[in-house]
This record gives sequence, C-alpha cells and structure tokens, in this order.
Amino acid sequence: MDKVKLYIEKDFTLAEVDDRLYSSFLEHLGRAIYEGIYEPGHPAADQNGFRQDVLELVRELNVSHVRYPGGNFVSGYDWKDGIGPKENRPTRLELAWKSIETNQFGIDEFYDWSKKAGTEIMGAVNLGTGTPKDAGEMLEYCNYPGGTYWSDLRIKNGHKDPYNIKLWCLGNEMDGEWQICHLDADDYGKKAVEAAKIMKWIDDSIEVVACGSATVLQKTYPEWDRVVLEHAYDHVDYLSMHRYYENEGNDLDFLASFIDMDDFINTITSTCDYVKAVKRSKKRMMISFDEWNVWYQAKQEPHDWLHAPHILEDQYSLLDALVFAGLGMTLINHADRVKVACLAQLVNVIAPIFTEKGGKAIRQSTFYPFKYLSTYGRGTVLKPVNTTPTVETRYGDAPVVSTTAVYDQENGMVNLFCLNIHQSEAMPVEIDLRSFGKLEMVEHMVMDGNNLMTFNSIAEDCNVVPRQEKTEPGEKDIFELALPKLSFHVIRFAVK
Ligand code: AHR
Repeated sequence: MDKVKLYIEKDFTLAEVDDRLYSSFLEHLGRAIYEGIYEPGHPAADQNGFRQDVLELVRELNVSHVRYPGGNFVSGYDWKDGIGPKENRPTRLELAWKSIETNQFGIDEFYDWSKKAGTEIMGAVNLGTGTPKDAGEMLEYCNYPGGTYWSDLRIKNGHKDPYNIKLWCLGNEMDGEWQICHLDADDYGKKAVEAAKIMKWIDDSIEVVACGSATVLQKTYPEWDRVVLEHAYDHVDYLSMHRYYENEGNDLDFLASFIDMDDFINTITSTCDYVKAVKRSKKRMMISFDEWNVWYQAKQEPHDWLHAPHILEDQYSLLDALVFAGLGMTLINHADRVKVACLAQLVNVIAPIFTEKGGKAIRQSTFYPFKYLSTYGRGTVLKPVNTTPTVETRYGDAPVVSTTAVYDQENGMVNLFCLNIHQSEAMPVEIDLRSFGKLEMVEHMVMDGNNLMTFNSIAEDCNVVPRQEKTEPGEKDIFELALPKLSFHVIRFAVK
C-alpha cells in the first residue's frame, strides 16, 4: 500500500470552530428526560431529582448547547403545561411519540439542569399546533427581566433572573408529513417569519433557526429550503439540517456516510447562496445541523401509551462509533458554514449516555469520538492536502483515510483526527507539519478492534473504549505511522 501523505500547513486555514458545533439535544421522548436526566428517588439524584452520575458524564462530553424540548415533541407541546406547582401540572397524551406526558419536568427544571451541566440552552418553539403568539409568550417568560405578565410568572415560579436563551429553533422538521400540523414550504416560511418578528421584537439579542429539510430523503428536498429561505432569509440567522444514518447491510457504504453528509451540506449551502443572490443580500446564511447521529430507524416497534417508554434505545457498536467519528469530522471540516451542530440525542434516546432505572449510567461507544472531537476540536480548522486513495461506495468515491486538522493556537497544539475505512489494510501515513517548525507527538488515541459489532452495556460497559498508543519522545516535523484497518485516531502535537 502506497504511503498516504498529509501536508498540514499553518496558513491553509478554513475557519474558527464555533463552540456550538459541540451541542446536543434532549427531547421529551422515551427515557431521555424521565429516567434519563431526571429521576427523583434515584440514589444519585440531587434535591431537584437530577441524576448526578448523568450530569458528570454530560460534563465529560464538553457539550456546548442542549436543544430542548424537541424534536417532534415540540410540535404538539404547550410549554405552559410544564410550569408552576408540579401538583397542578396536567398529564397529557403526547402524540409525537405516543406517550403519556406528566409535565413534571418543564422549562424551569431544564434551566436549572443546564446550570448544573454547564451547558447553554438552544430553545425550540412550537410552530405545529403552536402560534407565533405562543412563541412570543414563551420568550417573554424566559428572557424578559420582569414587570410583565409572563416574566412576573417566571419570577413567581422561583427564577428572579431571566434565562437569556440566545438561540431558538422556529419549530421542528415542518417539512415532514409525520410532524404534528405539518406545513408546506410557503405556509411554514410565512409562519416562521411572523414568529421571528415577534420574538425579535421581544428580545433583539436572540438568533433564530428556520427549519430546513428534515433529511435528503424528503421529496421536497432541496426545494423546501429554497422556498422557506425566499420567505424568511432576512428574518432568520440559520437554516437547520437533520440527518441520521444506519447500516443497511453493507459496512463500507455505512462507513462512507460522511460523504453523503458532505454532499448534503454542500447542496444546502449552495441553496442558501442562491437565495442570497436572488435577494441581493449581503448576509451569508449559516447552518445549524441540529440533529445528526447513527439511528437504526428500521428497528422501531409499535408500543402502547406509556410514560417514559423504552423507545429509540439504540446500542452502539464499534462500527457505529467509526461512522459517527466520520460524521463529526465532516462537521468540523465545514466549520466555515456549520456554526451549530447537535448530536441527537444526549441520554438514552439514540444517545452516547445510557441509564438504568435506579442503577448505573454508562458511556456508549459513540461517547468517545464525541468527547475527543469536542475536547480537542477547538481552534482554527486547517485544510490538509491529503494523497489518500479512494474507494467506491454507494455515495461515490470515499477517501480511505480522511482527516480533520485543528490548530489550537492558545494551547500551542495541532490536533489531528484520522479515520481509516479500509476493511483489510493498515494505511501507512506520513504527516508533514514543517510549517509549524519542530513538534512533539504527545498523544495518540485509537479506537479499533477485531469485533466491529461489540458494544457497551450496563453489564459490560468497557467493551468499546479507546486505547492510548505509545508515542515516541522527541521533536520532529515529519511523522510516520500506520493506521490499522477500520480505525479512528486522535493524534496531538505540541508546537515547540
Ligand atoms: O431525534 C429523534 C427525532 O428525529 C426528532 O424528534 C425529530 O426531529 C427527528 O425526526
């Protein structure tokens, strides 16, 4: 196998990484909230009922913002059901996920939880059954200091200071026929504009996200995005993108999912730029990729009306973690346009953290790539020149070795992420860092293994964990190593 050469030049920069690229998502869905982050009576629960073992894992992930309360859930949710004395809150049929919603957890509890998790809130308003007026009232409750009906109600409910939630989704996946009160692109575009106007009149410091296509599989993709933006371009700050991947039987195609994500981002940014040109606008629309993950949607089974049902509880294998790493790297490689990205979701529901009722909280395999990307993927994204061979997949030619390089100037580090999707060969790699002068390789973390299908469970929670490779001491400017077949790498160089 020919050596793959990576030329990493200090001055070939793409963009600064926005911290919000490492955001996540908690929806009232299955056991994400109830039995996930909130379980009064659990031995690790604090006085608010927040599981501290889960909080610790969330903090370990270095999550920036957490999107809340949905997802599909938000399109039927009345946020007013979730405030005030708990004993007065109504129990309702929740139509998006066929569940019983007790409303014991709402925006006030979520704000308190976020403070403990060290995360910011990305709010979402209901533009399904909800109206622009409801959206404005929710914002007034959350962000207005006091002296009005809704802000005084927040104060009465125990929160004197406003929440200052700066980022808001204008509904969720409104192009999806599964959405409660789904709309066509014209109707959604108009409704989003009216909601954005009201919300920005109440608090002009907020930014809002319009719903883009729920997936590339939608018949209306990418027309939906064009039409929505032609209505809303001047009123919104981001267009959302959502995309999930699953193994449909061919591991290589699955491993190449990042190519599809890359194409999707290129198409949507081109659509944004087309509308920019039509509008003769100076504003460059940015992307909020506010749902991404591996999700085995084909496995979902029908269930009865239940509170906190065990649904969407995917267990992630080593293979899933490799695919996941490729997706996360792709988001960083688009840091010039993707400013917000939410791993969907955070706990129990297609999540890196899994809990047992009354018991343990564990790290799934996907926990590790997220943690390493969010910890070391901060700084300036560079554009390496990469001589990798390619391999043919359902998404077109995919690089066998893909890379993401981030220069963390503050800490004097070059952090390199590599993924080798070759199914049988190790790839010899030469990393040329001469533009940085002398460096020392200080860490090399690897995720690989003989059994791609192995996963972590409550009983065996260390089946998939990264391993530290030995690094050679000493300073160099060109490094050589071999990336084993099917492996993800975090390689860190200290600039001398
Ligand atoms: O994350 C699970 C679901 O996927 C969300 O509720 C919805 O927005 C998407 O279809």
